[in-house]
Amino acid sequence: MKIRFYQTTWNGVDLVALAHSLGHSIRELPSSRFYEAYYQKISPHSLSEEWQYKKGCQTEWLKKQIDLYGDKRKPTLSIGAGTGIVEVPLIKSGHNIHLQECQKESLSLFGGTELTTCYYGSLDEIPQKEYNTITSLAMMYALDDDQLKSFFHSCANILESGGILILLDTSLSWQEIYSYLRNWRYFARNYLLWGFKRSVPHFLKLAKGFELLSKEYYDPYMKILPVKRIMQIPYNATPHWQMMVFQKK
Ligand SMILES: C[S@@+](CC[C@H](N)C(=O)[O-])C[C@H]1O[C@@H](n2cnc3c(N)ncnc32)[C@H](O)[C@@H]1O
Repeated sequence: MKIRFYQTTWNGVDLVALAHSLGHSIRELPSSRFYEAYYQKISPHSLSEEWQYKKGCQTEWLKKQIDLYGDKRKPTLSIGAGTGIVEVPLIKSGHNIHLQECQKESLSLFGGTELTTCYYGSLDEIPQKEYNTITSLAMMYALDDDQLKSFFHSCANILESGGILILLDTSLSWQEIYSYLRNWRYFARNYLLWGFKRSVPHFLKLAKGFELLSKEYYDPYMKILPVKRIMQIPYNATPHWQMMVFQKK
């Protein structure tokens, strides 16, 4: 199961106006040029305290995952790291994390470019079998299915055999599916297409070469949510995030 989801603003930036100024159709997913223009509009001071606090919760969460699944002798690669706000505190405290982005505007915002190895653009330029652990937070939703398939393919090339891929993505629930079905015409006309929410089985169809080791659901502050599921889609609670840990076969 997969649904589209839409946004109008993000951290105070009017996304619909930005799309119009770039000649970008609101019915298409943001491109790297769109993200670049978005990041030109923000600074650490313009990011809301609430948003920064939630990202701090993700930093704690990421530390736990890297300590659990990472290989201490090798760096972890974070794909689509955005501002690097989640990773930079860990890098400063001694974790070896490399950063990747599809554009060049954002990784310097919290000093990531000064602290670690950064890659920009295609994942195919990252040396093969270089990493044992890859993380990607809040990025898969920004990809369509073909791009997501190609993301898994590239991760399989970058990881050594048995390597771990830790994904945190926006979660799907029956409540959201209901809301989407009721309102999609309105959203499609007035909001920017921001991405796709996918169920775990939908991810599995695209994750060729990987097996799922575990999954968990969280609230916005990264507290674990116990959920009941119908067809693998949560129904008794609306999780904000879903984590999927994959291992390269
Ligand atoms: C919502 S932001 C999340 C950023 C960061 N991971 C975080 O949690 O704060 C999504 C990021 O994905 C990046 N992105 C989108 N498509 C990408 C792609 N194909 N490859 C790498 N990064 C991409 C965007 O530039 C944006 O910074």
